[in-house]
Amino acid sequence: MISWSHALVTGGAGFIGSHLTRALLADGRAVTVLDNLSVGRREVVPDGARFVHGDIRDERAVAEALAGVDCVFHLAAQVTIRGSFDRFHEDLDTNVMGTARLLRAVDPTRVKWFTLASSMAIYSDSDSPKPIDESHPKRPISPYGVGKLAAEDVSQQVLEARGIPFTATRFFNTYGPGQTFTPYVGVLTIFVTRLLRGEPITIFGDGEQQRDFIHVKDIVAGAMAAPGREPGRYNLGTGRGTSLNQLAAMVLAKLAPGKQANHAPAQAGELRFSVADISAARRALGFSPTRTLQQDMDDVIEWVRQREVTK
Ligand SMILES: NC(=O)c1ccc[n+]([C@@H]2O[C@H](COP(=O)([O-])OP(=O)(O)OC[C@H]3O[C@@H](n4cnc5c(N)ncnc54)[C@H](O)[C@@H]3O)[C@@H](O)[C@H]2O)c1
Repeated sequence: MISWSHALVTGGAGFIGSHLTRALLADGRAVTVLDNLSVGRREVVPDGARFVHGDIRDERAVAEALAGVDCVFHLAAQVTIRGSFDRFHEDLDTNVMGTARLLRAVDPTRVKWFTLASSMAIYSDSDSPKPIDESHPKRPISPYGVGKLAAEDVSQQVLEARGIPFTATRFFNTYGPGQTFTPYVGVLTIFVTRLLRGEPITIFGDGEQQRDFIHVKDIVAGAMAAPGREPGRYNLGTGRGTSLNQLAAMVLAKLAPGKQANHAPAQAGELRFSVADISAARRALGFSPTRTLQQDMDDVIEWVRQREVTK
């Protein structure tokens, strides 16, 4: 067992990072958030957290953020698979070089664990909806996936050499209240937002591609379980696939009964089947996701509705 008391959450003003920060505070930990607010918002960082407004590529900001910290959750990243084709330079600069700069600053005499938010995008595409485990081939099909895999590899090598235990948590498609609205990330949030605005929704490709949609609370529980358990790289999903046609039908039934989704050509970088085998995380982290899209859809709709009213 390790004992630690003060977490750094990079990207803590973002969707998953702000949920994680709240959960860590509720668990009695001190939390420092480092975020450049490129996507995240200051107001979602809870009052109890120390906030450092800065970039993970900035040595001074990183040093300030690491003061007193004994456990790191590194979530700050450019998060868009499709966008990473246009902005591959910025994407890799943040997701790989930013991670490298953070690693360089971590003091092995203080930091007892380092957890990296990785992604299902590190995997090669799969030709069946069968859940994939961590041994599935890794030939990412987007610059974003290349960067996340490089970040995992360099973190493992550097941290192992310096004696700091390392866990990579590979998040599958995460949904829930608080998801940042961009045209690229978070298909459920995009569908709900567009329908509430009276706009049509679009499915890229035939819609039979499958995703493993996991609620942000389950993701946070998986990430928080990492420090002190078996180091390694673990899939965090539900083990269940949902096709985009199924997802669209669920959202349309709630918000625009009788309407249909449009279809547009498939986009570069999109995996056909992305469903997690979570046996390793169950065994090593005690990971046990409980939420389902069916139960949580109304919460997401309500959250987007509030955001649309107050924006
Ligand atoms: N949302 C998903 O479905 C999903 C799936 C797989 C992996 N992930 C990973 O989880 C993590 C969190 O994702 P999210 O969905 O909360 O995204 P998000 O965009 O809401 O959060 C990312 C945060 O990082 C901050 N940030 C970006 N570049 C930065 C920089 N250079 N310096 C400091 N801060 C910076 C942003 O301002 C933002 O607050 C990311 O590492 C992402 O790659 C997310």
